[in-house]
Amino acid sequence: MRLLDAWKPASGGPLNIYVHIPFCTQRCSFCNLFLIPVNAEASQDFIGAYVNRLTDDIAFAATAVAPTAVTSVYFGGGTPSMLSLSLMESIFGALRTAFPTWQDAEPCVECGPETIDKSYLQGLRSFGVERISIGVQSLRPAALRHMARRYTADDVERIIADTQDLKMEINADLIYGLPETTTDDFLEDLLRLIELGVDNVSIYPLAVREKTRYQNLPSAHLRKYEMWRLADQVLAARDFVRETYVRYRRKASKTTYRQQKLEFAGVPTLGLGSGARSYAPRLDYAQEYVVSGRASKGIIADYIGSTPDTRTYVGFRFSDGEIARRAVILGLLAGGVNLPRLRADTSSEIWEEFSSAFDELQGNELIDSCGETVFLTTRGRQYSDIAVSRFESLEVLSSRSEFHVR
Ligand SMILES: C[S@@+](CC[C@H](N)C(=O)[O-])C[C@H]1O[C@@H](n2cnc3c(N)ncnc32)[C@H](O)[C@@H]1O
Ligand code: SF4
Repeated sequence: MRLLDAWKPASGGPLNIYVHIPFCTQRCSFCNLFLIPVNAEASQDFIGAYVNRLTDDIAFAATAVAPTAVTSVYFGGGTPSMLSLSLMESIFGALRTAFPTWQDAEPCVECGPETIDKSYLQGLRSFGVERISIGVQSLRPAALRHMARRYTADDVERIIADTQDLKMEINADLIYGLPETTTDDFLEDLLRLIELGVDNVSIYPLAVREKTRYQNLPSAHLRKYEMWRLADQVLAARDFVRETYVRYRRKASKTTYRQQKLEFAGVPTLGLGSGARSYAPRLDYAQEYVVSGRASKGIIADYIGSTPDTRTYVGFRFSDGEIARRAVILGLLAGGVNLPRLRADTSSEIWEEFSSAFDELQGNELIDSCGETVFLTTRGRQYSDIAVSRFESLEVLSSRSEFHVR
């Protein structure tokens, strides 16, 4: 299938844009995302060539998808803030030219605490960025060392203060279930971030991933449910609104993880750059996925040497049944599913399967209903990974169990 054809049904509608920057100062012990560790100064030419190629992708994409509105722009990675301000400026310039409406899209940039200072934030602000997200993971020196992360709690405090001075909004990520941390350590870190005034907090259970330094750790699988419950209570008591089981927003703040929220509501996402995933209307696709440093560098070098119209991707094509399953899963995670609408969009065979899953989840107090909407209870949020897996097809479950990264 040609990429242009995959995007035809989305033309004329809303669109999210995700830009992937696959460079980090080091690979953290828990991380198997698509990136290479580089020294930004030593690798200036390589990073510059990457950004050049990325701006070609942006211009080409605008010929494939002609959205009425760009609803969100998110820079993820990797560590996008490894790019110099002048490289960032050229990406924003390309986006502005290709998608003139992007500036209404509340652009957000993921930043590594060790890579930014106030003048970098000022630069981002001058390109129209009013929100950033930082990976904190923990404020404990021992845990940070164990994860191979190169900043301190003081750096995090300084960055939060800088964003406040500059009237920018900030999300902070924390991971729970980490080695070298207790439940109390995690809750104390969470309270400290709240006290420092972050606008959003995202709390992730440690996922023990293949091909990482943590791959042989015992999984904190059972402990994670209790840790989530305690954190959820702490956040609710401090006026944070739960948006998904991961992300919380300070009630007074308007900011949110807009891209994820819109994706859950069915807005397609165009991924740009090596390692980006795209969610077209009936096709999720990306380039081949690897973790090994040498293979990743080869893939990025191939990307730099290619042209936008000649690249090939791997993907998953959605049948009507898979679209219905995805709508239930994302709907439950985002806040609720409208039953009459789902019934209208679903074949009777799949509807029967859904009905018995809903009965079973209700019997276990994982979902409840209000009028025509079904939603996860607090217990359902706590066990959301188990609850929503009830709607996955055998095909998805078996391809996941067969998947191994290299
Ligand atoms: C897309 S990642 C990249 C963030 C950014 N590069 C950083 O680390 O500062 C966003 C978040 O996902 C979470 N994350 C990534 N890998 C994880 C894992 N194996 N287990 C739990 N959380 C993880 C981390 O909290 C991370 O900050
Ligand atoms: S966690 Fe973030 S900083 Fe660490 S290697 Fe992964 S993407 Fe890079």
